[in-house]
Amino acid sequence: MSHYFTNDENLKSEFRKLEYKYQDFSFCFISDNGIFSKDKIDYGSKLLLETFIKNNKSVSNVLDLGCGYGFIGIVLNKVYGCKVDMCDINSRAVHLTKMNIKNNKADCNVFESNIYENIVNKYDYIICNPPIRAGKSVVMDMLENAKNYLNKNGELWFVMKKDHGLKSTLKTLEKQYHLEVIIKSKTFYIIRAKIVDL
Ligand SMILES: C[S@@+](CC[C@H](N)C(=O)[O-])C[C@H]1O[C@@H](n2cnc3c(N)ncnc32)[C@H](O)[C@@H]1O
Repeated sequence: MSHYFTNDENLKSEFRKLEYKYQDFSFCFISDNGIFSKDKIDYGSKLLLETFIKNNKSVSNVLDLGCGYGFIGIVLNKVYGCKVDMCDINSRAVHLTKMNIKNNKADCNVFESNIYENIVNKYDYIICNPPIRAGKSVVMDMLENAKNYLNKNGELWFVMKKDHGLKSTLKTLEKQYHLEVIIKSKTFYIIRAKIVDL
């Protein structure tokens, strides 16, 4: 069975268009089979993105970790004009993101990476809707090791549903980060994790 995080070259393509508006910006994203939330923009991703923007006046660089078809990173690039790197383990997702960058006239860098394997830079922000279905170890690797790819005073922003192991995740992360719940909506929580200054 194919998952949204596996590379399945035999899976037939069926492109669809997802429209999104933020303030004066209009976006059109191409999505496909074998991609996370292929038929509509995910509620958690939208909440994460919009909460992030409301809470950050200016942003100069960001990593969109597990970018899918590119929704979060592309919108951030257009809204802030910031430098955006995006990565995903799924080559179809990376291919779609390249198309979506071009179609939305964005300026982002996208590449394949298994978690942080191909990440060489450090960022002021890492933003992530983690792949719960890929399992706890992948999710915790993404969240716990973000600190190694953040600049001083950098922040990790992520979304998690309460019933997706939020409590135990926060318990583990609180050893390394100052955590703040920025907003709760339905059962989704948006968390800001700042590196603890020693
Ligand atoms: C919940 S989806 C979010 C996608 C996108 N950010 C969005 O908001 O629509 C998580 C993404 O993580 C990717 N992913 C899963 N395992 C990964 C891994 N080991 N390394 C990098 N990305 C991974 C999946 O392919 C998927 O695109």
